[in-house]
Amino acid sequence: MSALLPVYERDLVLVSGKGARLFDKEGRGYLDFAGGIAVNGFGYGDRKIVAAIRRQAGKLIHASNLFHTEPASALADRLAALAFPSKVFFCNSGTEAWEGAMKFARKVGRPAGRFEFVAFERAFHGRTMGALSTTWSPKYREPFEPLVPGVHFLPWNDLAAAASIVGDKTAAVMIEPVQGEGGVRPASPEFLQGLAALCRQRGALLVFDEVQSGLGRTGKMFAYEHAGVTPDILTLAKPLGGGLPMGAVLLREELAAAIATGDHGSTFGGNPVAAAAGLAVLEHLTAPGFLADVEGRGVYLTKGLEKLARRFPEAVADVRGLGLMVGIEFRGEAGPVLKALRTRGVLATKAGDSVLRLLPPLVVSRKDIRELLGALEAALGEGLGH
Ligand SMILES: Cc1ncc(COP(=O)(O)O)c(C=O)c1O
Repeated sequence: MSALLPVYERDLVLVSGKGARLFDKEGRGYLDFAGGIAVNGFGYGDRKIVAAIRRQAGKLIHASNLFHTEPASALADRLAALAFPSKVFFCNSGTEAWEGAMKFARKVGRPAGRFEFVAFERAFHGRTMGALSTTWSPKYREPFEPLVPGVHFLPWNDLAAAASIVGDKTAAVMIEPVQGEGGVRPASPEFLQGLAALCRQRGALLVFDEVQSGLGRTGKMFAYEHAGVTPDILTLAKPLGGGLPMGAVLLREELAAAIATGDHGSTFGGNPVAAAAGLAVLEHLTAPGFLADVEGRGVYLTKGLEKLARRFPEAVADVRGLGLMVGIEFRGEAGPVLKALRTRGVLATKAGDSVLRLLPPLVVSRKDIRELLGALEAALGEGLGH
């Protein structure tokens, strides 16, 4: 069809969007439960985000990190105030944020000879060589080995396994509080609390990848708030730039002294237009009652799905997630269900072969949720998902 390298499986050509709806070349509308893979938190054509981008684009599109810009400095301050006392490094994607987190953890651990990473089965942290080293799926990893050495993959939600591995060589324990690509699997609060205690006792850093789960997706600003634990390093991306490429690494303030000028960098990182969009995103997320409402609509969606699971037990094995990050595990393949939803005008995404992953814009309405549930019910009624 074009000169694009075919690394993605796709056919639909999208041209515009409004609210939680997308439109293709033929003008056909789709209710969006894929959300640009958790990027489009405020749907399409959001006035505040569009206005912030327009305003900043008219003033200064790019300056490089040879200079400060007001939007990037303001966004760093806002993020640190929302998360924990920290210093912020900006980059352009989730993978880059993770790559930065790995480097910072290595640099902090270096004087003590700590260089190993503990990651988890089904983890997804990105696809560059460093990030790929902590991404679990053999399908993604094996064609590119050898990767970064010193990574241990441990079973999910298994504190005893972590206690047997984390030691004096461990630079960091690195985890998604809710695994996304790996099947929408929330870590149990006890597991995260146990990992935090273990890291404290053994002198390793705790690093949370909230590229997908962060910034309101689970009904809290950060998913780790559900467990009441705070990491040493936090990565954010997807929704941060309001749809523009933007990633961030937050490094606990006391650790930042280990990072010197020149240790890391990015030409585009902290781009002022993306940062201005980020400020608009944070304004939306901190509007009174907004996150509680996300949580409420998340419960509404999950309850509706659980009802379907009871009606179609031969198709649905599990419904799980947090807030508006929800997975439906089928006993068979999720692909045909995804296709059937699309023919009914609903877009979603998968997480592995058997899990349908729902990541709607955070502004999705209860009426939209009922539309998704209706389309899914019809698909399951056709015998799909077995
Ligand atoms: C948890 C997590 N980390 C990292 C990444 C990589 O982000 P990006 O695709 O922006 O490089 C993703 C992308 O899906 C992700 O879900």
